[in-house]
Amino acid sequence: MASPRDGRRVLVTGAAGYIGSHAALTLLESGDRVLGLDNLSRGHLGAVQILKKIGGPNFDFVKADLLDHAQLLSVMRDFRPEVVIHFAALAYVGESVHEPCRYWTNNTMGSLSLLDAMRRCGAHRIVFSSTCATYGTPAPAHLPITERCPQTPINPYGRSKLAVEQALLDSCGSREWPELGVALLRYFNVAGSDPQGRLGEDHRPETHLVPICLEVALGQRERVEVFGADYPTPDGTCVRDYVHVTDLVDAHRSALERVAPGTALIANIGIGRGFSVREVIDSCRRVTGAAIPHRDAPRREGDPAELFSDPGEAHRLLKWSPRFTSLDETVATAWHWRRAHPHGYAE
Ligand code: UFG
Repeated sequence: MASPRDGRRVLVTGAAGYIGSHAALTLLESGDRVLGLDNLSRGHLGAVQILKKIGGPNFDFVKADLLDHAQLLSVMRDFRPEVVIHFAALAYVGESVHEPCRYWTNNTMGSLSLLDAMRRCGAHRIVFSSTCATYGTPAPAHLPITERCPQTPINPYGRSKLAVEQALLDSCGSREWPELGVALLRYFNVAGSDPQGRLGEDHRPETHLVPICLEVALGQRERVEVFGADYPTPDGTCVRDYVHVTDLVDAHRSALERVAPGTALIANIGIGRGFSVREVIDSCRRVTGAAIPHRDAPRREGDPAELFSDPGEAHRLLKWSPRFTSLDETVATAWHWRRAHPHGYAE
């Protein structure tokens, strides 16, 4: 258990989710005081319980929805966060295509509600969980993707996040809110688990490629469906940049230390290399030793062909570089947790 000390007071929205829980864990281990907020629509109480055990008196959790402005304001006035890390969001590209209003309401309105509460309670620093989905389908000349790549998202998820980026950038240094300091971290595909196996990745429903491959390895699914084998990529399947969740969390720690009043820091967080869907399946086969059957299936709506980052700005601005650059090592951490928790947090 972490020893109680007067560290920073950090509000973590989405603390019961995959990335939020890993971030809360790291902050607690550095001695920060963390208030986790989550509406538990997609997050896990099991993750919260682990954080409570590890964080002891430095961790509190409130079940709250960002759209409940009165509750949010009251919680924030009590806790008085010095900084907010905002993860809470719906994050399924495919779902966003079919339920756009839900995405705009939850992701965009929820964030605006949070911003208003921050301003009212004097919390002036935010690290926002943005996404490479804001870039849409970059022209080949824009690969690897830098922060200057045009942002033309091709799905409501990406648009709901881009709108929040724009609200933050408009507010940052404005006459209305001169003290606001913003870090926008645009994540590529996050994978892996806490290397010590305390937390993991468990989405309901599961749509993410790595956990799906591991479910096939565990015999919980028959096969992996490869969504599209006719993309203009070397093997015809989509290419993504898989960054380890603990590396991603380190980028947040670094951003927290650097975010300053009236300034905006923008960085892509990826490893700078793309892997195709077939390469990910092969990696999961090597790590698990299981056959992991697959079959080609139609494309999934809203999926760009190829996304991988130029992490140069993250190196420069955040002094950040990933420790996990081998896909097999990333997958091995995911497998370590999943094998020990075949039903995820449901146990
Ligand atoms: N895929 C399959 N079969 C599956 C699941 C996924 O072929 O069963 C493919 C997808 O089509 C995609 C790739 O594997 O090409 C990765 O898919 P994921 O669902 O794992 O991840 P996404 O790229 O769709 O989305 C993730 C996050 C988003 C984030 C995005 C940025 O969920 O929040 O990365 O690329 F915005």
